[in-house]
Amino acid sequence: MSPENAPLVLVSNRGPVTYEDDGTVKRGTGGLVTALTGLASHRDAVWIASALTDGDAERAREAGGKPIEVTSPAGGTYSVKLVASDPAAYDRFYNIFANPMLWFIQHYLWDLSNAPDIRRHEVEAFEWGYNVVNEDLADAVVEQIDGVDDPVVMIHDYHLYTLPGLVRKARPDAFLHHFVHIPWTQPDAWRVLPTRIRNDLYEGLLANDIIGFHTRSYRWNFLQCCRDLLEGYEVDFDAGIVRTPDGREVWIRHYPLPIDWNATRNVASSPRVSEFEGQLLRRRRDHLILRVDRADLSKNVLRGFSAFDLFLEQHPEFSERVTFMAQLMPSRTDVPEYAEYLERIEALVAVVNHRHGTPDWMPIHLKLRDDLEEAMASYKHYDVLMVNAMFDGMNLVAKEGPVVNERNGVSILSENTGAHEELGEFALSVNPFDIQETADSIHAALTMDAAERARRADGLRAIITQRDPGDWIDWQLEDIRKKRA
Ligand code: F6P
Repeated sequence: MSPENAPLVLVSNRGPVTYEDDGTVKRGTGGLVTALTGLASHRDAVWIASALTDGDAERAREAGGKPIEVTSPAGGTYSVKLVASDPAAYDRFYNIFANPMLWFIQHYLWDLSNAPDIRRHEVEAFEWGYNVVNEDLADAVVEQIDGVDDPVVMIHDYHLYTLPGLVRKARPDAFLHHFVHIPWTQPDAWRVLPTRIRNDLYEGLLANDIIGFHTRSYRWNFLQCCRDLLEGYEVDFDAGIVRTPDGREVWIRHYPLPIDWNATRNVASSPRVSEFEGQLLRRRRDHLILRVDRADLSKNVLRGFSAFDLFLEQHPEFSERVTFMAQLMPSRTDVPEYAEYLERIEALVAVVNHRHGTPDWMPIHLKLRDDLEEAMASYKHYDVLMVNAMFDGMNLVAKEGPVVNERNGVSILSENTGAHEELGEFALSVNPFDIQETADSIHAALTMDAAERARRADGLRAIITQRDPGDWIDWQLEDIRKKRA
């Protein structure tokens, strides 16, 4: 059976929906879910994911290990198999090892001067957390592909690096394709991890047949890591292949993720978005700067506000004429680094508002919530979209904003986002650590003439609307077909 027709198994930590305790269904959040929803609802696919809430765990129990049909409030019906791990193991997996450990390593959030201490706590988070959840999900995958010839399993993200090795052992014939949604950092960033743990992660990952990244540079970094950190593996940089000690070839590829721009535009024209637009336009000043992010350290929210602070100091003529609206979704709040980051964000907003605000004007509006329609309303009316992440796998906000914006808004885009490889030409590129450059870019964006704004906005729209996630999946299926031939 060709991979285009074979039943697909997708596996990721976060699935397309979560059940609240009262039984209501919420759409899953984040780039990974956005990428997979089209695929999972339009073809014969089972999506295996961790049970994230008590409501999910309850459903998993009721389903007795079988997939259930679920309709997401965002549309689409999925066949979902929820896997409930032991809560203590899940806590170690998610709140200690995957976040912050792997997430920080893969966003350069640690360097050797502020690297974490590795003690029994961290090692146990790997052994009795990360590995346990990977085993649970691997068991669910193996059960799902039981009796299926030539199964294709598409594995997603940094939560599941040891899962492929476990599935490979049980089903040597399975085709394993792993997409990593976050950056891959250079070899030295990985030296924070104890060698044994690092080897387990790389060996698990290299049990795949294909490993995909968003960009050329992450792919290159991965090949370098395999050369510098592993023994017994052979790396062919030109072909993008890693040869394992047992003679398998692993293809290392890059597939930049497009957005479903049609769906994004549909959401943007919904009645609830119009309600938010009404509120926004009533309060609007001459100019609106917008950012929409998870409240994550990698997003560089503090430097974004510092740049706005500097801009207001250096250009007092903009006083009372511009608002910086930041819609931030609290994220991973059980991880101390994230909780503290949120506090620092709120404190800095208070300082900037106090320093520059007037009785009639609050320079920064901070909204701590996850509301897609509210974000859409703001996307439609921004003059400047701020995406200044320190490092970011792709950054879908950089793609969503320009396809619904109605004001030829200018994108300020960090050169360290995956999206920059595609969109940099039509954005104002910034080094995310350079606060002065970011402040200058705010000024350049707000004073740019209409023709130049239109040229850039047209350029962004043209690139973003060239492809959709269906193409992204097709590239991957095409490689699966080629490698199997
Ligand atoms: O790829 C990174 C990712 O998995 C995206 O789906 C999303 O940006 C984010 O991480 C979600 O994180 P979490 O599942 O921890 O909320």
